[in-house]
Amino acid sequence: MYCSFYNGLVVREYTVETDKLVEGQTAKIVLVSDLHSHMYGKDQSKIVSLIKKRNPDIIALAGDIADDIEPILGAELFLEGIRNIAPVYYVTGNHEIWTRKSDEVKEIFRSHGAMVLENSYESISINGVDFIIAGVDDPDIVVYEQPGLNWQEEVKNSFSSLNSQPEYLILLSHRPERIDFYRELPFDLVLSGHTHGGQVIIPFLVNGLLAPNQGWFPKYAGGLYRHPEFNHIVTRGVSFNPRLPRVFNPPEVVVINIISCQ
Ligand SMILES: [Fe+2]
Repeated sequence: MYCSFYNGLVVREYTVETDKLVEGQTAKIVLVSDLHSHMYGKDQSKIVSLIKKRNPDIIALAGDIADDIEPILGAELFLEGIRNIAPVYYVTGNHEIWTRKSDEVKEIFRSHGAMVLENSYESISINGVDFIIAGVDDPDIVVYEQPGLNWQEEVKNSFSSLNSQPEYLILLSHRPERIDFYRELPFDLVLSGHTHGGQVIIPFLVNGLLAPNQGWFPKYAGGLYRHPEFNHIVTRGVSFNPRLPRVFNPPEVVVINIISCQ
């Protein structure tokens, strides 16, 4: 048990089941969000070794790995540390869009081995099973970089061909609050961040006090939410800001095991 202001990293593990895998088939994803370029040990050694130990098949970065104010070096060191552990997939969060230079940020991420998903998707075979991993730009791109863009239409059109795909479909999208929109998309699993766990948790009573774009007592502050159409995992992220303590809400690296329900 950690004390209320514990700010060391913890690992939180979830298991989701699917009939798209047959008995014995599995895949393991490590999900990281909201680093905001914070440093975990020299050259990010603490967070990198923690991820390496979990031996993931994929590393999914759900946005705000870099920041609009902090230097990007922390994000770059993190990317260098994880690039040879497993394929790395990344989407922007609002803070990367707020730089107003998200194309430059994406280029830097690519230069460190990450695959940038920008309303696009990639196929990947894991342990002999085919998966599709897709991702969207943070919707603040409309406000800061592409005024006039219909973000929802753009996303829908980008993924319309996936409806009939037999593969297990994963979507990386920074924002957890767009839940009604995700219902309209064909994905089996959606991975989000952005909330920082709602900053304050009161064990057994309150799962998050305040989160951006959700307000007080956010419904999707962090956890595994099982919807009829898809599973949604919201990580509380690895943000650490000494001016804004996390209470009963340590920074977390999430491990997701996808297994067969057959
Ligand atoms: Fe965010």
